[in-house]
Amino acid sequence: MTSGSWHGSVDQLLFDLNSNNHLDKRELSAGLTKDLSKKIILVPYNDYKKSITILKKFKSKIAMVIIEPIQQALPSKKCEDYIRNIYNYCKSKNILICFDEMITGIRVNKFSVQNCLKLKPDLSTFGKIIGGGLPIGVIGLSKTVEKKLSEKKNKVFFGGTFSGNPLVAEIGYQNLSYIYKNKKKIFGHLESLSDYFEKSLNLFLEKEKLNIKVIRYYSILRIIYTKSIIKNKFDRQKKEENLSKRIIKFQNFAVNNGVYLSKRGAIFFSYSYTKKDVEYLIDVISKGLFKFFK
Ligand SMILES: Cc1ncc(COP(=O)(O)O)c(C=O)c1O
Repeated sequence: MTSGSWHGSVDQLLFDLNSNNHLDKRELSAGLTKDLSKKIILVPYNDYKKSITILKKFKSKIAMVIIEPIQQALPSKKCEDYIRNIYNYCKSKNILICFDEMITGIRVNKFSVQNCLKLKPDLSTFGKIIGGGLPIGVIGLSKTVEKKLSEKKNKVFFGGTFSGNPLVAEIGYQNLSYIYKNKKKIFGHLESLSDYFEKSLNLFLEKEKLNIKVIRYYSILRIIYTKSIIKNKFDRQKKEENLSKRIIKFQNFAVNNGVYLSKRGAIFFSYSYTKKDVEYLIDVISKGLFKFFK
């Protein structure tokens, strides 16, 4: 799996990473057999050369590569080459690849990163937006994987209390149908608001010579507290390490002015936002950044 990705509360995929070496992992939860977590190999997100060196080392032992193609920790088009390269490597070596599109799915243009990049991973996960607020998870399988799983000897059992829940399934169906029918309008609106937010704030930050910038992948945005080039979540965290008090003060200022910014840092635009809403956001955020970072 790629470092810095989040795949949910799966014990075997949760690690405390060494801040100086983000491939050095320690299980986050107690009680796991060491054998299991040893079988999870981390490769550095957005560093193709190092990732390939590691993948080559384990070659035939790799069951699957799982990647969160765009992480909310670094929503940027600059990561697209890495995604393409890892995908092409896996395809050329017959290694299964899974795209975790829980966040990017139905949120970015063309419904997914894989569609934007014209890639066909063997497995995909989706969720969140499909449920329109209700809990849902969706797994996508390629025909080849589906066929393998349907063979009796490869049986994989899956089920749970909420699997196939009729209420969520109906809402999900209606929601997806609506988005599909109105895709041009919805994605066009989100793109124009996100672009406006990014450009306006970056212009302001340039003008005020603040060492901050806004980055985005379609309507997933983030304020980054450095103008240096950062390649991954850990580079960013290092740059922001000494700013945490100021960042919290800024976030509190925003809340007091009616704008809740998630502590995790990503900003997701909603189709219901109007230009006026975004102008208000820009106003509060620029005042806050000026107050605490100038
Ligand atoms: C990229 C990604 N994958 C997987 C998950 C896990 O989803 P759930 O919490 O529904 O299991 C999340 C949840 O935030 C996520 O962001």
